[in-house]
Amino acid sequence: MNFKIQMSGLKKQFGGNPVLDGVDLEISSDTITAIIGKSGSGKSVLLKLIAGIYSLDAGTIDCVRILESGETVPIALSDIGFSYMFQNNALFDSLTAFENVALPLSEGKLKVDPSTIRNTVDDLFEQLDLSSARNRFPGELSGGMNKRVAFARALVTQPKVVLFDEPTTGLDPERKFTVFDMIERYREQFGFSALLVSHDIPDVYAIVDSIAWLDQGKIQFLGTSQEIDSITEVATKNYLKTGRFVGKS
Ligand SMILES: Nc1ncnc2c1ncn2[C@@H]1O[C@H](COP(=O)(O)OP(=O)(O)OP(=O)(O)O)[C@@H](O)[C@H]1O
Ligand SMILES: [Mg+2]
Repeated sequence: MNFKIQMSGLKKQFGGNPVLDGVDLEISSDTITAIIGKSGSGKSVLLKLIAGIYSLDAGTIDCVRILESGETVPIALSDIGFSYMFQNNALFDSLTAFENVALPLSEGKLKVDPSTIRNTVDDLFEQLDLSSARNRFPGELSGGMNKRVAFARALVTQPKVVLFDEPTTGLDPERKFTVFDMIERYREQFGFSALLVSHDIPDVYAIVDSIAWLDQGKIQFLGTSQEIDSITEVATKNYLKTGRFVGKS
């Protein structure tokens, strides 16, 4: 299905502090956009607005399906099928790793049969080197293991839009690349669009189509990693290339 999610003029403030102050961004079918920006710049707030967890102060999020004729038809994000990987994982403490990942398949509309659930979840666990975690609870697992359980849960329903909030933070380098490889592979296999919040600059650039830099409440740069090279302002260019403001504390 071809679709477009168009965000215009998104604003959100908390207690008088503007966090997002006019964010414009578009998500098209089958594209991955990295959202980068310093801590506290509003990356998670942006994902929560899209997911409908927070309400907008101003602006619009329009979701349309694009027909073969080019005609567009309004559609709800939930009709496209989306999942959200929370920054803090948001796993259920009283469920095992297996049960956490199986939950989206066993609840609600999907009603997948138990043997398919078992195979799908075990396959994900194998790919993520999580088989030993299968029957353990989140409280018994390391931070990196819980991160990968949350990642598996985000992909288990083969969603068409995935909002990943820092899927690789705290992972060792090998597992970080496993997660990036899986995002690439799953997109090739099933096709999805993603907004991927990440501090892994520039490693994350290898798997994204474009990069959106959020700062001062707005998207200050939107483009490909090649387009970063043509930025003339040195501090900004260095930041987008390395994740560091060279020469600044
Ligand atoms: N529910 C809330 N109530 C009050 N303030 C909030 C709430 N959620 C977010 N904020 C504020 O919004 C700002 C942006 O937070 P956000 O979590 O989006 O940052 P971030 O860019 O994701 O940072 P990080 O890289 O550290 O995850 C922060 O100042 C935060 O305190
Ligand atoms: Mg965040």
